[in-house]
Amino acid sequence: MHVFQPIPVDTMEFNPFESIGKDWALVSAGSRQKANTMTVSWGGVGVLWGKNVAFIFVRDSRYTKEFIDAGDFFSISFMGKEYKEALSYCGSHSGRDSDKVAKAGLTWNYKHSIPFIDEGSFIFLCQKLSAVKLTEDSFISPEISKWYKDGDMHTMYIGEILELMAR
Ligand SMILES: Cc1cc2nc3c(=O)[nH]c(=O)nc-3n(C[C@H](O)[C@H](O)[C@H](O)COP(=O)(O)O)c2cc1C
Repeated sequence: MHVFQPIPVDTMEFNPFESIGKDWALVSAGSRQKANTMTVSWGGVGVLWGKNVAFIFVRDSRYTKEFIDAGDFFSISFMGKEYKEALSYCGSHSGRDSDKVAKAGLTWNYKHSIPFIDEGSFIFLCQKLSAVKLTEDSFISPEISKWYKDGDMHTMYIGEILELMAR
């Protein structure tokens, strides 16, 4: 297990376009008994309701969604470039079918019983504040509908960043 240090969130240099959009990340949820993770490349960070928050978008079909919905927390693990293949694997295989974390060469770690990926270079530990299901009637630009032709809608989860950990 790696040793992670807590870092004040507001001191971090973080480019969401790079770290989320280009490098991708692993969103995890569950317990020490059972957890799941999946790759995300959509999301962001900001300030809402007086808190530092992260938001992610998870489609109905994702097994990880069941874990996020069942608990109060999720984590976002940001990986070094050497883990791109592992991120591709976790973004194209479902935890319903196999132990994909092990198959991707990754390891679980936990803080306050919140699961995260031990190989991550920095981690957001988040407490769920809100879950908002996106619906067609909220789309203003008609262009957006192309992402939902099969009706597999996203839920936006807004989480307070409780802790930022780095190693
Ligand atoms: C680069 C990349 C980015 C992805 N981003 C998202 C995302 O933001 N939201 C989402 O619901 N699925 C996203 N996915 C798809 C899920 O990671 C994928 O369906 C995964 O297999 C779900 O695993 P699960 O069923 O174990 O939860 C992405 C996949 C890849 C490869």
